[in-house]
Amino acid sequence: MSSHSFGVERVRADFPILSRALQGNKPLVYLDSTATAQKPLSVIRAMDDYYRNTNANIHRGVHTLAEEATADYERARERIAAFIGARSTSEVIFTRNTTESINLVAYSWARKNLSSGDVIILTEMEHHSNLVPWQILAEEKNIRLEFTPVTDEGELNLQAYQNLLELRPKLVAFTQMSNVLGTINPAEEMIRMAHEVGAVVLIDAAQSAPHFKVDVQKLKADFLAFSAHKMCGPTGIGVLYGRRDLLEAMPPFLGGGDMIKKVTLRGFTPNELPHKFEAGTPAIAEVIGFGAAVEYLEQIGMDQIAAYEHTLTRYALDRLSEISGLKVIGPPAEKKGGVCSFTLEGIHPHDIAQLLDREGIAVRAGHHCAMPLHQRYGLPATTRASFYLYNTLEEIDFLAEALEKTKALFG
Ligand SMILES: Cc1ncc(COP(=O)(O)O)c(C=O)c1O
Repeated sequence: MSSHSFGVERVRADFPILSRALQGNKPLVYLDSTATAQKPLSVIRAMDDYYRNTNANIHRGVHTLAEEATADYERARERIAAFIGARSTSEVIFTRNTTESINLVAYSWARKNLSSGDVIILTEMEHHSNLVPWQILAEEKNIRLEFTPVTDEGELNLQAYQNLLELRPKLVAFTQMSNVLGTINPAEEMIRMAHEVGAVVLIDAAQSAPHFKVDVQKLKADFLAFSAHKMCGPTGIGVLYGRRDLLEAMPPFLGGGDMIKKVTLRGFTPNELPHKFEAGTPAIAEVIGFGAAVEYLEQIGMDQIAAYEHTLTRYALDRLSEISGLKVIGPPAEKKGGVCSFTLEGIHPHDIAQLLDREGIAVRAGHHCAMPLHQRYGLPATTRASFYLYNTLEEIDFLAEALEKTKALFG
């Protein structure tokens, strides 16, 4: 899809921050959306409007503001449930982020259902969020963790995955799209394979839900986690989707107000779903902002966004391949989303990111919360440029030119 048919200039006009200049008069070139995305005016306005006009605590009040705030909050849940194809709003639990969603499953579902000697299968390309909660659990309950290996090309080795499934894991958890390699994993097929051996499957959708259509019923995902801030929404709010029967059978994660139906001095009865897992006053403005973000993405169309990002990625890989000494890790454009992590011979990724910053270009350098994956490739760090619906081909040209300049500076 060309930038003209996608209408990127119209999209850019929705994001106030993109008109900023940095370092004097250099236009901001924001290539760090994998870390967090920029926010359109409609999201900023939705949150501003809540604080100006309807601010009240939800679910408990009988006054007009409380009723309006509750309606707005629950309307956002409905929109997000429809966005991911959930059967019902009771399957959509608000958390702080992907990390908390995964921890919720580890603390509530896994502690109840897993015991000593049970197996969990993860992959070598996981973000620390989908590693450390399982490592904590493994240590506590003597659980065995196994890892589907990544090939030199940056894809999961599916034959090795098939072999690991013979261990009859209780849980399989993997990312739908790598935040370093950009690899889009064949989630539907991997879930089907895991279900054949009776495993429950958790999908880390932190990088997929923002960039292409994710449908939990089509995937047949049991759990699926994602964060608003990576999809044009605010920070501090995320979702855990869970299959209703699994959520019903799980004990509460956090205890407190709102998650109960009845309390005595000696005990409590948990509330209905989804409230059973939402203890305390939630991030009300953020949920409303998240609803506005999903509305924004839907108005543009997830298929249009995915197609446009594919154009950007293909162009970026072409431009970067022209730079001698530069190596991108991960598969070719057909198999990945808009993430290019690379090394440039003889120059440390942090130096690259700093020099790009002087040109107004925001990229990330480091291990991107995936240290084991970097170890797999024998790299301490990479520089990562990532793209979203507001980036342009021209910005990729700026990046390529600035990298050539960086190389010249280092001789
Ligand atoms: C693949 C993946 N999983 C999980 C996370 C964690 O997301 P959050 O920090 O919003 O919890 C990220 C964030 O970069 C990610 O890229």
